[in-house]
Amino acid sequence: MNGLSSVFNLLAYVAAAIFVFGFLNKVLQYYKTPSPLKIATTPAPKTSMGVVMRLIPEVLFFRSLLKGGTAEKILWLGGWVFHVSFLLIVLRHLRFFTYPVPGFVMSFQQIGIWAGLVFPIALLILIVRRFTNDRFATISLFADYFILLLITLIGLTGLLLKFYVRTNLVDIKAFMLGLLTFSPTAMPDSTLFLIHFTLVLILLVYFPFSKLMHAWGVLVSPARAQVDNPREVRHVTPWA
Ligand code: HEM
Repeated sequence: MNGLSSVFNLLAYVAAAIFVFGFLNKVLQYYKTPSPLKIATTPAPKTSMGVVMRLIPEVLFFRSLLKGGTAEKILWLGGWVFHVSFLLIVLRHLRFFTYPVPGFVMSFQQIGIWAGLVFPIALLILIVRRFTNDRFATISLFADYFILLLITLIGLTGLLLKFYVRTNLVDIKAFMLGLLTFSPTAMPDSTLFLIHFTLVLILLVYFPFSKLMHAWGVLVSPARAQVDNPREVRHVTPWA
């Protein structure tokens, strides 16, 4: 393994560590943040089980967006299709990270390719949406465009790898398994793959510091995850 490969492997570990510890740190921070008031959006569940039942359709179908107007419905379409295709792409990618490859990963191979093709279309909806009216343009920050662009580039380089610049997938799998088993090997000899992979590392590093933390935030947002019981139980914060 040459020096460049060693640096690349090291960067991958650093990025993974920043992602894992950064994510856990944010989860802890959310947990410790006081929520001094009962602000559940009513009508809200009166039991913890009710809150779980409220969150499930929210996480699976982004239900509250469907209750909005046309703008929210467009966001729903782009957002939901994006997330589902992302999930299918990740399931297809698991073949690079597992040996032997489990049967369920094999069953997602074909649909994963279709998801890869739909992915940039969903992202295009999300990007165009930010330019469609003054209100969205005003509330859009550089961070919002950056993340959409980064994920689009990951998807497009992936599609190029699949359809135009074929690489040696055996090398790529050996490289990934080397990383996962802490016995790093030489990095694959494919510039396009290294770009695809580096963009993913940037995504991992950026994730805990970005709005992508909504992945966890949706589960602990007080307006949606609080039990609506201020009449039954006196709500006292530990520090009050
Ligand atoms: C955010 C994470 C990622 C996204 C969104 C993503 C997206 C994609 C997409 C859309 C494709 C084209 C469709 C397909 O063949 O599945 C693709 C292909 C590919 N991706 Fe990724 N990818 C990600 C992470 C990774 C990682 C971590 C690796 C490291 C092994 C990787 C390696 C590849 C390879 C080698 C291909 C070509 C597959 C083939 O030729 O059959 N990707 N990626």
